Amino acid sequence: MKLVVPRERRPHEARVAATPETVGKFIKIGVEVRIEREAGRAANYPDDDYRRAGAEIAADLDALYAGADVIAKVRRPLEAGEDGEDELSGLPSGAVLIGMLNPLGQPASVEAYAKAGLSAFAMELMPRITRAQNMDVLSSQANLAGYKAVLDACEVFGRALPMMMTAAGTIAPAKVFVMGAGVAGLQAIATARRLGAVVSATDVRPVAKEQVESLGANFVMVEDEESRDAETAGGYAREMSDAYKAKQAALVAETIAKQDIVITTAQIPGRRAPLLIDEAMVASMRPGSVIVDLAVETGGNCALSEAGVDKRVDGVAIVAHPNVASRLAVDASALYARNLFNFLSPMIEAETGALTIDWEDELVQGTLVARGGEVVHPSLKREAAE
Ligand code: NAI
Repeated sequence: MKLVVPRERRPHEARVAATPETVGKFIKIGVEVRIEREAGRAANYPDDDYRRAGAEIAADLDALYAGADVIAKVRRPLEAGEDGEDELSGLPSGAVLIGMLNPLGQPASVEAYAKAGLSAFAMELMPRITRAQNMDVLSSQANLAGYKAVLDACEVFGRALPMMMTAAGTIAPAKVFVMGAGVAGLQAIATARRLGAVVSATDVRPVAKEQVESLGANFVMVEDEESRDAETAGGYAREMSDAYKAKQAALVAETIAKQDIVITTAQIPGRRAPLLIDEAMVASMRPGSVIVDLAVETGGNCALSEAGVDKRVDGVAIVAHPNVASRLAVDASALYARNLFNFLSPMIEAETGALTIDWEDELVQGTLVARGGEVVHPSLKREAAE
C-alpha cells in the first residue's frame, strides 16, 4: 500500500497529516510512504526527519500522487473556485482520500469526491465509541484549542490570572467563564485553573456539571425538563428550544457582566454554532475584558467576532483566531497523525502490507462519505433527500 501526504495548502493551516513518528510506524507494518517536499515544514517536521523514518520525498504533486492508494490530508482539498490552486482535480481516481473533510458543512465537496472516483473518509464523523477513542480527531484537536484559547486570552489581557500577594499589595484573581464544556471547554477550564483564575462554566448538557465541578470550576446552567434531555445518544448537544435559549441567555447575561475573560466553545455538529453573546452582553463587560471565540469558523458564539480579526469594542477585546489547533501545529499534527495511524493500521495486511478495507466495519461505515461514484454516508443522504 502506498500512502502519500501532500503539503496542506489552505490559509491558516500549518498542520501535516503524518509525522516522522507515524511514518516510521507505517513503514514498520509494510506501508510505502511518500511525503511532498516541505509538507511538514510549517509544523517543524523537516524533510530529512521523514527521510530518516523511511519516507520517500516527492518534489511535486505529480510525483507524489503516482500510484497512490491512500492520500492523507489534514483539511479537505482545495477545489476549483476556491482561493488557491485546485488540489482536488489532481487526486488520482480510485484512491482513498482521508482527512477532516467537513462533510456536513461542505456536502457539495463530498459529491465532488464521488465524481472524482475517490473513496473518501471524513475523520470528524468517527463514532464516539471506546474502540475509536484513539482515532477521535475532534477530541485531539479541540483539547489543544481549549488550552491555546486561554493563552490567547492572556496575551491581550492586561492583568495577571492568579491571585498574588506581594509587598506592594494583593492582586485579585481573574474571573474566567467558559461557555461549552466539551473537550475544548474542559481543557480551557483546566488551563485557566492551573494559571490561578477563578473559573465558572456553562453547558446545555447536564452531565457536564460534574465534569466542570471536578475541575474546580462552578457550573452555571438553567436546569429544567428540557435540559435533562439535551444530549444526543452520540454525546453531542441538541439544538435547544427558543424558550430554553431565552432563559439561558438571561442567566448568561448576568454572569458575563461580572467576568474578566470569556472563552466560548459551544458547537452543534453540522449546524451553525449557537449565538451566546450578543452586542449588549459585550457592552456589559468592563473595559479590559477579553472574549475568545473558538467557534468562529462555524459562525461564532459571539455576535461581534470575526475570524482572524482582533477587535476592541469599547475596551473589550474579541479574539477569534481561525483554526486554533493549527496554532500548536507540532502537537496538533502529532496527535492527528496518530489518530490516522490508529484508524488505518488495522486495514493493513500483516504479511503483504496491502490495504484491505472491511466495508462492514462500524468505524469504516461511520466515516466513509463517498465510494464508487456515490455519496454513501447516511447523514448526507438524508440531507440530500430533505
Ligand atoms: P462540541 O465541540 O460539539 O461542542 C462543545 C460543547 O458545547 C459541548 O459540550 C456542547 O454540549 C456545548 N454546547 C452546545 N450548545 C450550547 C449552548 N447553547 N450553550 C452552552 N453550551 C453548548 O462537543 P465536544 O467537545 O466534541 O464533546 C461533546 C461530548 O462528547 C462531551 O461530553 C465529551 O466529553 C464527549 N466525548 C465523548 C467521547 C467518547 O469517546 N465517548 C470522546 C470525546 C468527547
